[in-house]
Amino acid sequence: MERHGAWIDPAVELARATNPAEAAFFAQEDRLATKWHHYLEVYDRHLSRYRGKPVRILELGIFQGGSLQMWRRYFGPDAVIHGLDINEACTQIDEPGITVHIGSQSDAGLLRRIAEAMGGIDVVIDDAGHISPDQIASFETLYPLMAPDGVYFVEDVHASYWPDLGGGLRAPGAFMEYAKRLLDRLHARYVLDPDPFPRDPGFADATQGIAFHDSMVVFERRRKPPPRALTVGHRTLS
Ligand SMILES: C[S@@+](CC[C@H](N)C(=O)[O-])C[C@H]1O[C@@H](n2cnc3c(N)ncnc32)[C@H](O)[C@@H]1O
Repeated sequence: MERHGAWIDPAVELARATNPAEAAFFAQEDRLATKWHHYLEVYDRHLSRYRGKPVRILELGIFQGGSLQMWRRYFGPDAVIHGLDINEACTQIDEPGITVHIGSQSDAGLLRRIAEAMGGIDVVIDDAGHISPDQIASFETLYPLMAPDGVYFVEDVHASYWPDLGGGLRAPGAFMEYAKRLLDRLHARYVLDPDPFPRDPGFADATQGIAFHDSMVVFERRRKPPPRALTVGHRTLS
């Protein structure tokens, strides 16, 4: 499997970009950025409402820094952009409006300090180590700290099926299995069996939905009142 992207002709791709995230990616000429093509449409679907706003975004996994530049182009001048990487070389990225943190995505104390420094987080993109326990650790720390209408992306979850990265098909510690358990927790109020998992209305009440895409899981936060079943109109059929 191709783990790093093929070189393409950005000008050709830019000319046929079908959404602003594609355009922002293919316009990237400075630092290297690497994304799977189909992620771009998914980003735009979940993030377009933040464009032109002072959105606070944290990307876990900086690599060469091109992605942070792409986010600036996509969101605009008011976006507050932070990145975290374990590689100290990332401190060489010194650009206005972009803050680089060094450390591991599994360091809960560090993540809390970053969230505090950012004054809250609207968007998290986890594109760091792709190791299941680390993805879970980051999510458990950051998700509750996010804005109530924030969006949390976990990328490259195909790695969740790879034992060398802490995963495997239906392996209990795999991020994908964790995400499936969260899908059950999203529906906690409907589960009739005696608690098969700790009943956690907190997650369900704070989460509007979970979207599973190829290699990417997206959690959409939204404060939800208990669901209301609605009926309008007149019954005419017996
Ligand atoms: C796939 S690259 C990120 C690509 C970048 N987001 C982009 O779109 O261009 C993954 C990065 O995560 C970093 N990384 C690996 N393990 C990490 C960890 N435990 N915590 C933080 N960063 C980590 C690596 O040093 C590498 O730079």
